Amino acid sequence: MAQRIFFATSEVYPFSKSGGLGDVMGALPAAMQNNGQQTAVISPLYGRISTGNFRIRPTVSDLPVGYPWAPITANVYETVHHGVPHFFIDRGEYFDRRHYYNDPVHGDYFDNAERFIFFCRAALALLEHLGVPPYMVHAHDWQTALLPVYIHFLRRSNPFWANTGTMFTIHNLAFQGRFSSRLFAACGLPQEAWNFNGVEFFGDFNLLKSGIAYADAVTTVSPSYAREILTEKFGCGLDGILRQRELNLHGILNGADYAIWNPEADPYLPCQYSEQDMSGKQGCKDNLISELGLDPELKDRPLLGFIGRMRGQKGIDILNAIIPDLVRMDVGIVVLGEGNPIHETIIRELMEAHRGRVAAVIGYTEDLAHRMQAASDLFLMPSRYEPCGLTQMYALRYGTLPIATAVGGLRDTIIPWPGDNSTGFIFTEPDPLDFLKTIGQAVQFWTRNPVGRREMIRRAMRQSFTWDKSCREYIDLYRKIRLRLDQ
Ligand code: ADP
Ligand code: GLC
Repeated sequence: MAQRIFFATSEVYPFSKSGGLGDVMGALPAAMQNNGQQTAVISPLYGRISTGNFRIRPTVSDLPVGYPWAPITANVYETVHHGVPHFFIDRGEYFDRRHYYNDPVHGDYFDNAERFIFFCRAALALLEHLGVPPYMVHAHDWQTALLPVYIHFLRRSNPFWANTGTMFTIHNLAFQGRFSSRLFAACGLPQEAWNFNGVEFFGDFNLLKSGIAYADAVTTVSPSYAREILTEKFGCGLDGILRQRELNLHGILNGADYAIWNPEADPYLPCQYSEQDMSGKQGCKDNLISELGLDPELKDRPLLGFIGRMRGQKGIDILNAIIPDLVRMDVGIVVLGEGNPIHETIIRELMEAHRGRVAAVIGYTEDLAHRMQAASDLFLMPSRYEPCGLTQMYALRYGTLPIATAVGGLRDTIIPWPGDNSTGFIFTEPDPLDFLKTIGQAVQFWTRNPVGRREMIRRAMRQSFTWDKSCREYIDLYRKIRLRLDQ
């Protein structure tokens, strides 16, 4: 158990996932093990997790957590997945819900602060119960951001925590976990944490800011996003505290899990394919066109795909604004996502208006995401900001050329056309006209230059964003943190 790195997260694939965080936490801990580290994951036991399917078994009962009222306890469940122990914190009234963080009708759950403060405190209690001080606690996003803060203050009073290092990774600066100041009173942190350089943010308790302020090192998921968030434009109000921590802020690019996202072995695909034999990709396209009721003549025209949360971040409104123009270009458009009901309604109406040319599936369907990656020719990502973005990495591997904004991880993973090494199409501003112009160029290239197209697809499929490089960077940072603490 010595030297163990604990990842604390609110999502971990295949147990739970609402977006890229789940994918990352499903891959990084195992990749770390392959790089010689001992890792374990702690996450909530959501009601929708099937304990039977995953052989999840009870391991600790009635662990005292003492938050938000004294005698409260958690049960802990455990399983080993891909060689990594996964601990699940169980407390039905907090985690046995239909959704992870919010209800589509009523918005964020009213007790999100309580749920995740409880989770962080239960994680601390579990680690103490396991009896060996962790080498590193690596927390992700606002839901687990208080862990580094608690550990920072516990180091002073409890020798168990004296040398445990903490790292905090920001996957999305826009989701901060900002709550009323009264929730600070019960969370068990000392009053001195309530200050402008600590957990306080314009009179509120800001969990993401807390993690940024107190973790030994802060990382985010691409080098470009790490630079962008130091500016007012991308800083979501936290650029000031991030600049204060600039020397300890690092951008480490996510990897893609090619064991799951690989067209040669993807069990969700009707036809598998490889760079050497692409015929299966046409098979996937033909299949999806009939499944979604699109015009059969689209089989020979470019199919444009969008997969993502229907929120401002992903620029679904930018796409919706140009759909009528795209239809005039004689292409097919397939959209998969859920989110803001306004965007959902607009895309549904566009589908009605352009039956046979536009298909939209509102919802969250893991297998359809795979089939759409394989079936599309061009992958649309008009994101206003993108901390990393995994879907463009998957698109590249599936030979689906991305068309994306020049932000964050998108600029770090796509080599822009024109150019000998290009793997996709990039436009500068998240603006409908720029987007439309770039799609126009991509469609022309796709239809008029079959040789260039094949070469670009081949280059795209050869891109490799493996986790090993990121693991080495994390391990190096862990070591530096520990050196500082052990001095
Ligand atoms: P983000 O985390 O910002 O949502 P990423 O590109 O990092 O964006 O990761 C998104 C992940 O969620 C990918 O695995 C993608 O396939 C998946 N995804 C997003 N929306 C859906 C959906 N509606 N159905 C199925 N999978 C989805
Ligand atoms: C967030 C970001 C996304 C990133 C993912 C995993 O959800 O929006 O860009 O890829 O986290 O780090």
